[in-house]
Amino acid sequence: MTHFNDTSSPVQLLATRRSGKARDMATPGPDAVQLRAILATAIRVPDHGKLAPWRFVIVGDDQRAALSAVMEAAYRAETPDAGRLALDAVRGFALEAPALVIILSKPDPASHIPLWEQELSAGAATMQLLNAAHAQGFVANWLTGWAAYSPGVQAAVAQPGERIAGFIFIGTAAKPLEERPRPDYDTVVRQWHPLASTPKT
Ligand SMILES: Cc1cc2nc3c(=O)[nH]c(=O)nc-3n(C[C@H](O)[C@H](O)[C@H](O)COP(=O)(O)O)c2cc1C
Repeated sequence: MTHFNDTSSPVQLLATRRSGKARDMATPGPDAVQLRAILATAIRVPDHGKLAPWRFVIVGDDQRAALSAVMEAAYRAETPDAGRLALDAVRGFALEAPALVIILSKPDPASHIPLWEQELSAGAATMQLLNAAHAQGFVANWLTGWAAYSPGVQAAVAQPGERIAGFIFIGTAAKPLEERPRPDYDTVVRQWHPLASTPKT
């Protein structure tokens, strides 16, 4: 059986990396010192132009219910025919897992650094956050879902011009992690050749 998130070495950790499911997380989550260390690691990412085109919002235990209420209100307003099951899921989202961090992409439109590169840096910061959480022995989960694209939720957590890159849940895996199908190496990795001789398949 694969030993996921094997912290015996950095190489092993990256090679066995596996997210946990937010809904399958239990305590303990990171304490304040551990979470600070995770976020301090997350901000050490490639960032063309040193713009820090991202930021992190910690949703503390005392604010989870408030965020859940914001999401429910937004969902009701944006989905008038919302069913009970969907509402339960929306209400429960912000309450999953012991810790929740929202990562926001905040590209500078006036910068000469392409927007695409600034957005890539937000993805890199999020990935680094996941790796840092796994390195500390937790599992993490990068989710977007409806909430990331809801105008009501965005207004409550982001400034104009910012976008929600993800809701990052962190905790302890309460169920064994299972492997997920991965792309076939030879399908996604190729040697480059001049276009004239590159097969079309
Ligand atoms: C930007 C982004 C958003 C995601 N949003 C969701 C989501 O809303 N729901 C979900 O089930 N998985 C989502 N995922 C996928 C999971 O985070 C995770 O990558 C996936 O379950 C595979 O696990 P792994 O990290 O072990 O490869 C998202 C991934 C990315 C990159």
